[in-house]
Amino acid sequence: MAKTDNKIMEKIVSLCKRRGFIFPSSEIYGGLASTWDYGPLGVELKRNVKDAWWKANVHQRFDMEGLDAAILMHPDVWKASGHIENFSDLLVDCRDCKKRFKKEDLAEQSNCPNCKSDNLTKPREFNLMFKAPIGPVEDEEYVYLRPETAQGIFVNFVNVLDSRHRKVPFGIAQIGKAYRNEITPGNFTFRTREFEQMEIEYFVKPGEDEKFYKEWIDERFDWYMRLGIKKDNLRLREHAKDELAHYARGCTDIEYNFPFGWSELEGIANRGDFDLKQHAEFSGKDLSFFDVKTNQRFLPFVIEPSGGIDRALLAFLVDSYREEQVKGKLRVVLGLDKALSPIKAAVLPLLKNRPEIVELAKKIAKGLSRKIVVRYDDTAAIGKLYRRQDEVGTLYCITVDVDTLTDKQVTIRDRDSMQQERIAIDRVEEYLEEKLA
Ligand code: GAP
Repeated sequence: MAKTDNKIMEKIVSLCKRRGFIFPSSEIYGGLASTWDYGPLGVELKRNVKDAWWKANVHQRFDMEGLDAAILMHPDVWKASGHIENFSDLLVDCRDCKKRFKKEDLAEQSNCPNCKSDNLTKPREFNLMFKAPIGPVEDEEYVYLRPETAQGIFVNFVNVLDSRHRKVPFGIAQIGKAYRNEITPGNFTFRTREFEQMEIEYFVKPGEDEKFYKEWIDERFDWYMRLGIKKDNLRLREHAKDELAHYARGCTDIEYNFPFGWSELEGIANRGDFDLKQHAEFSGKDLSFFDVKTNQRFLPFVIEPSGGIDRALLAFLVDSYREEQVKGKLRVVLGLDKALSPIKAAVLPLLKNRPEIVELAKKIAKGLSRKIVVRYDDTAAIGKLYRRQDEVGTLYCITVDVDTLTDKQVTIRDRDSMQQERIAIDRVEEYLEEKLA
């Protein structure tokens, strides 16, 4: 779909609601701004995005370990990481219309973008971390909802190093929720206050950081392409020195050509030894690595590929969405990669008023469900069922008809080519296994 189609976001948002991918959060109460719930198909798609990332970055690499750290951490973590001091936006308020803006969005403008008043406050620091009381006495002790998963990895560096007998270079990967009190959330799930990150902290010997920084940029760029994102819709953007985060020596973003413009999917940063040094100082613990080969002790440098699951998922949706004319009728297809499609196959009875057909179709679906995500559906006529499955990216539709009762064959339809093949029931599992491998 051409990215110039400025209706595409509306179409995606509507498809997500209509077909059960993404719903506005707390909708029956009027919703909570910029918060979203993943519905029956959204949760499958999200799991598939996470699984694809975990497989590529943990299971298929022997220099990586996984982790699942707690969201709530000791408050000193955020002092050491610099988030209490630096993780803030400069905000300007309009005294007349009461709207609030990021200073950077106003640029040189001295009037309110909303009501044009020049009655604006001076810029003030606003920390983006959510603070929550902890324990039985309110107002006494506080924790923060983590604004990034990264710190859970840094504070566990020595635990993983020792328990897994690791040597540098090696990495730790983590997927999990993060929270930021964003001032200007928006663009559907692109910028929200609750989101999920997929982060890697890759520990290297100082001096080897540039090499690994480049390797990770290539690897992460390729990952999006391997999962079907068109190369023309991806680009790299290196940060200028004055836009680097407080911890970064260098950073390159992988950007996607969203309908609302090129925007960050993931950042790959060279964090140097900033984090381990800070945590060593604040905790008083030795976080260095001893290299037996060189008899040297050093604080590793860190390369950090840090992406957002919600943004990746949105890019996969936008990139795979297409509209076609088939026999004079509109066909909407989510051409998702086979690893990502929420439903791999749907089993559809041609006649739902014939109990033998329904029973057999359900039996076939049940059998396949041991191996793949399969759904049985008899809620409409076959043409409509095909269209619905195309719209959610289902790879194969398996139709059980009257002939199936005697010839023991079903019709398998391919989502993209719409080609149909007649196949023996006892060959279906093998057929799908081959196709989905
Ligand atoms: N540990 C480094 C870090 O957190 P970041 O660039 O602030 O870096 C990394 O965030 C990724 O997390 C972003 O590239 C984006 O995909 C995702 N992300 C950040 N803020 C987000 C938000 N408010 N909503 C959705 N995703 C977000």
